[in-house]
Order: sequence, then C-alpha cells, then structure tokens
Amino acid sequence: MIKKGIILAGGMGTRMSPLTKAVNKQLLPLYDKPLIFYPLSILMLSGIKDILIIVNKGQLNQFKKILPEKNSLGINLQYKEQKKPGGLPEAFIIGENFIKKDNIALILGDNFFYGQNLTKKLKDCTKLKHGAKVFLHPVKNAAQYGVAKINKKNKILKIIEKPKKLFSNLAVTGLYFFDNNVVNMSKKLRPSRRKELEITDLLNSYRHRNKLKAEFIGRGGTWLDAGNIDDYYDASNYIGTLENRQGLKIACLEEIALNNKWIGKKEINDSINFYGSCEYSKYLKNLLK
Ligand code: G1P
Repeated sequence: MIKKGIILAGGMGTRMSPLTKAVNKQLLPLYDKPLIFYPLSILMLSGIKDILIIVNKGQLNQFKKILPEKNSLGINLQYKEQKKPGGLPEAFIIGENFIKKDNIALILGDNFFYGQNLTKKLKDCTKLKHGAKVFLHPVKNAAQYGVAKINKKNKILKIIEKPKKLFSNLAVTGLYFFDNNVVNMSKKLRPSRRKELEITDLLNSYRHRNKLKAEFIGRGGTWLDAGNIDDYYDASNYIGTLENRQGLKIACLEEIALNNKWIGKKEINDSINFYGSCEYSKYLKNLLK
C-alpha cells in the first residue's frame, strides 16, 4: 500500500517568467485556487495523507501561508527545500528521510488531472507493492514531454525524454507510483545533457528490470501541464467552465477530506475562518448543509 506522497513544487518557473519572478509557479491562481491545490487533491483522492512538499530554497514561508503544516485538511504535511533544480528524481533523494522504508507516489506541482474514473484508478495504483507505475496520456505535442511507446498489451517498450524524432503520441505525465527501491535507484542516476536527473532514466531502469507498468487516464480524462503559459490559461478556463456549469468545485481540498472522513464540521468551520469571506468559503458552508 502506498500511503505517502511527494509534490515537487520547486523549479524556477522560467517558462512563465515574469509571472514567476516574485511568486512560485505553484502558488499562482488556477482559476479560483492556487495551482498546488490540484496536485494535492490528486494525492488526497488517492487516499494519501502523509505528504511532503518540496519547494525552492527561500520559498517555504510563501507555501506555509496557504498550506500550513498544522492544517484543517486531515493530512500530515511536511516541507523540504531544494537548493537548486536538479531534476525530478531528486525528490526521492531529498525525501529519503520522509520515505523511510515505504513505497511512494510522486506528482508534479504544475500537473492538472481530471476524469470520471480517476479516483478508482488512483486507489488501484496505491495498491502497488513492487515496481513502478506511470500515467500516460495522448497529446498532440508529445515531443515536449517524456514519450512512451507501448505494445498491444500495454507493455511499455520505450521511453525517451523530449525525443527529437517523435515515435508515439503518448506523453509521460507527472504522476508516478514507486516501490522503495526508488531511493537507491535515483541515487545511481547521472545528470543528463540538461544537467538534471531525468525521471525518464529512472523509469527506464525500472523498465529494464521488467518492473514498469503503464496506467492510463483514459480518453474521457484530462491532463494539462500548467507549467507553460498557454496550457496554464487553458487549464484555468477549463476549470472555470466546469465549475460554473455544475456548481461543483474541482480540487476543493476540504470537500475531499470530508468525503474521505478525515475531517468533520469543526475543521470545515476552521477553514472558513482561515480563508475569510469569499466564494470558496461559501462553497464550504454549503458542504455542511
Ligand atoms: C518533466 C519530465 C517529463 C514529463 C513532464 C510532465 O518535464 O521530465 O518526462 O513528461 O515533466 O509534465 P519538464 O517539466 O522537466 O520539462
């Protein structure tokens, strides 16, 4: 069972500068909530309560203002700083003391996932005992991501980071589930040409041992990478459209915690006090009816 998760919320956000000069990308608004609420909601929907957020050096206080360690979400939050961006697998090296002997989920702080059967799939992934699982999703512009090729039995045959020659439309999304070997395997990786440890190298080491499995969000589901400006606004509009049509919020953390029975009425009221008088609080008030 996977009971722990890491959100990697570091990075310089250079693709989104000047927006990200003073504020971490993951704290920018995605429609009506900070971007980081969305990946956090995915971990919470997976049933994961012990969460480590990795942030840039000097940005801890920004994050703690909105997601304090002592929170009313029923989750155990911890923070660690990353001195400088060294690639995604660094999360497992920085998080070694948090992971201890357990298996671990990783989600990127700027990735947005949404879909009908997603919660069930997430819960299935947390049953992972050995090996690794990665979520794949088709996109038009796969070459700007890690790209995977699969066979008819959904076996992953090949993974390449930002390939020059495109061989598949399946992107490697920023949601992964690993067994405890991930810590040692990450330590063995060497930096790539862009001077970072690459998640695709890590996935390939699992693949070479026949220990990597693919999971799919599915055709009716959505994956957006809010780390570049166009997708950022697309994601924001997408969320706004759905929320306003249905009157239901995406990534309302308190609602998820309440449904998971991690919190009750008291914590919802604490959150309302914390956020103050706003649309989000109004929505929380309605949850109590
Ligand atoms: C990273 C990973 C890449 C993955 C992407 C998902 O890319 O290296 O494999 O497809 O996240 O968002 P980066 O954001 O570092 O370019």
